[in-house]
Amino acid sequence: MLVKAPRGTADLLPGQIERWRWVEEVARDVFRQFGYAEIVTPIFEHTELFERGIGDTTDVVNKQMYTFLDRGQRSLTLRPEGTASVVRAYLEHHMYSGPQPVKLFYIGPIFRYERPQAGRYRQFHQLGAEALGSQDPALDVEMIAMSIEIFRRLGLADFLVHINSIGCEVCRPAYKDALRAYLQPKLDGLCRTCFERYEKNPLRILDCKVAACQDAAKGAPRSVDYLCESCREHFDAVQKYLDALGISYELNEMLVRGLDYYTKTVFEVESRSLGAQSALLGGGRYDGLVEECGGPSTPAVGFAAGMERAMLALEEQGIQAPSTRGVDAFVVAFANDKRGQVLALVHQLRQAGLVVETDYLQRSMKAQMKAASRMNAARVIICGEDELSRDVVQLRDMTSGVQEEVPLATLVERLRAELC
Ligand code: HAM
Repeated sequence: MLVKAPRGTADLLPGQIERWRWVEEVARDVFRQFGYAEIVTPIFEHTELFERGIGDTTDVVNKQMYTFLDRGQRSLTLRPEGTASVVRAYLEHHMYSGPQPVKLFYIGPIFRYERPQAGRYRQFHQLGAEALGSQDPALDVEMIAMSIEIFRRLGLADFLVHINSIGCEVCRPAYKDALRAYLQPKLDGLCRTCFERYEKNPLRILDCKVAACQDAAKGAPRSVDYLCESCREHFDAVQKYLDALGISYELNEMLVRGLDYYTKTVFEVESRSLGAQSALLGGGRYDGLVEECGGPSTPAVGFAAGMERAMLALEEQGIQAPSTRGVDAFVVAFANDKRGQVLALVHQLRQAGLVVETDYLQRSMKAQMKAASRMNAARVIICGEDELSRDVVQLRDMTSGVQEEVPLATLVERLRAELC
């Protein structure tokens, strides 16, 4: 029996990885242009970090974490998102005592035990950014602008930006009360999860996918109507700046997000070309998280996009990565006592910066020529025994078909001049 990859994971094969690396490259360029520096944090952290940070009433913490005891009996968890880790690193390395805001980005694997389906995996990858140390609504807008700039550069324009404000610790209690009062008569009709959410986390009932809960939530009070003055002003500014940048968005009062740390602005970008799992990215402000993790009171905002979702959207729209450099030269080699000399030539050409392939199967000259054209090699270098004994090779231009004898002494320079 062959051992297969675990459910909900995927290999990235040659032919797919080119598009993947291109997405990463585009994102890295955009992040750098917006002033974000890369951070790499461990793939596992102490379980407590996520329990405290993400919230113990969330699906992520309750149902989806890959948690295990290591050999020292410590409870560790494969990271189910990136924000809590970035906050931990911000505190651990005292980044709060330097110039603010601290603007960071990350790209890497994330783990959630979810039911796999198209666009939903157990190991997936996020590219995300966090800006810590400022409550300026301009940063909320920068996050949205930066995230959609990545998608714009990839050629994906078919998306919708949803925004909402879910208030802060000052105004949210009153909103939760209003929501509970509204939902109270409908309580028995809610799904079990929402029934349990009613007390602790009634906001999440608004984005439940169960039809009965969606019905119950119709006409529910809107968080934007309960914002305190500071949240109101902040959200007005976010909208004003989005307008100034010409970014279209929709106010979506049902958008509450699945993680507990959010305050004020929340946003999601949805692709119109993806099916059920249409969220390309999500994010928002989390002004209480740094303090919750034991640090000084520090406002912050961020987002994360799913790499696999971006890949699906690109596929859906037939968008390919720009073609990468192909094979410059295929060196036709024969199994004879000159092989060492041929391999040395291959090595020398590679050291000179050329992309070079050769034969490893002792194939006939004809079969090697076929292999070279299958690889779309620009040139073929034929090293016959007779040629090598005269310190020359046959150089064939695969586009024009012209073949000529070239001295070994000038070959590298000539190919560099023509192909690099
Ligand atoms: P999130 O909405 O849980 O937010 O995830 C962000 C994105 O990751 C989603 O919009 C989706 O594209 C992708 N994603 C989530 N789950 C899966 C899955 N099972 N398979 C494939 N893709 C998935 C966060 O994680 C927050 N940390 C974002 C954030 C950063 N907020 C502030 N800063």
